[in-house]
Amino acid sequence: METPPPFIREGEGLASHVRFRVGGPADFFCVAHDLDMLQEAVTFAKNKHIPSFILGEGSNLVVQDGGIRGIVIRLGKGFKEIRIEGEKLYAGCAAKLPRVCHHAARKGLQGLEGLVGIPGTVGGAVIMNAGAGESAACNALESLTVLEKGGGVRKLGREDFLFSYRKFQWVDGTPLHERILLEACWRLQPASSALLTETIKKALALRKKTQPIAAASAGCVFKNPGSQTSAGRLIDEAGLKGMSIGDAVISQQHANFIVNKGNACARDILALMAQVEKTILHTHGISLEREVCVVGETDCK
Ligand code: EPU
Repeated sequence: METPPPFIREGEGLASHVRFRVGGPADFFCVAHDLDMLQEAVTFAKNKHIPSFILGEGSNLVVQDGGIRGIVIRLGKGFKEIRIEGEKLYAGCAAKLPRVCHHAARKGLQGLEGLVGIPGTVGGAVIMNAGAGESAACNALESLTVLEKGGGVRKLGREDFLFSYRKFQWVDGTPLHERILLEACWRLQPASSALLTETIKKALALRKKTQPIAAASAGCVFKNPGSQTSAGRLIDEAGLKGMSIGDAVISQQHANFIVNKGNACARDILALMAQVEKTILHTHGISLEREVCVVGETDCK
């Protein structure tokens, strides 16, 4: 049997690694601080014939109560660098998106300021094309450096990926989990740093006013069903704010947020989501599509 390298832990609880604070253990878990460690973890998974799952900040995830089979890999220190070359901004995929947005604004580069309130890593934001208002992570994205399944590092350009509202895909059809994002490069526009900083201040203030940003949650649970229709508004209109199952509750501040008051488990959150879906189908005739990713197993091993 393959013995894991020392930096790979067994049976790591995942609740402390995700913002919803729910979820069972990963069979194996590691933080890969550089490319060598990452390749070692990937090779371990390959030799052991187990799946691997790349975890960012877990800010858009429901990890189910049975945890994740296989290995969960987080990118660490060596993947957090941010650098600027002319109008291009490069960020390691473990860098926090808000940090990247602040950095761009300070350097007088426009294009990322609208994303400043989105919690999560660069990698997570790209792979889900995270967004707020008109801004989306992939809009100004120029290229991505990736680790291929075969072990090679490659740079892929805009012609290699497609994106739309909260969706990212590779043109050649490679499944998302088969290419690990290492670094993103955005092409930005020069602008006044003072103005960008002001835009950021306003965006953060608005988010604080309208969303439960300090609570344990995964942000908006459902996609907006159309560009003019907010899922939050529909859920609010249906009178569901405050509805709860266990410690999972629909936020009073923004109805598209489910908040973990403390001891919710994934089952509570999923049951509440199903209840919302059923109600909105009944009241508005609309099938809400989930924005959060649900991963892992319902039951323990
Ligand atoms: N509204 C309500 N009740 C609510 C929530 C919203 O009536 O409980 C109304 C608001 O008053 C407003 C309209 O619905 O008139 C739109 O609300 P908001 O500006 O909050 O935007 P949203 O469409 O609900 C989207 C994104 C958010 C992003 C905000 C701000 C989705 C699913 N949600 O929300 O993204 O932060 O715009 O840009 O696209 C996320 O992706 O996790 C997320 C939170």
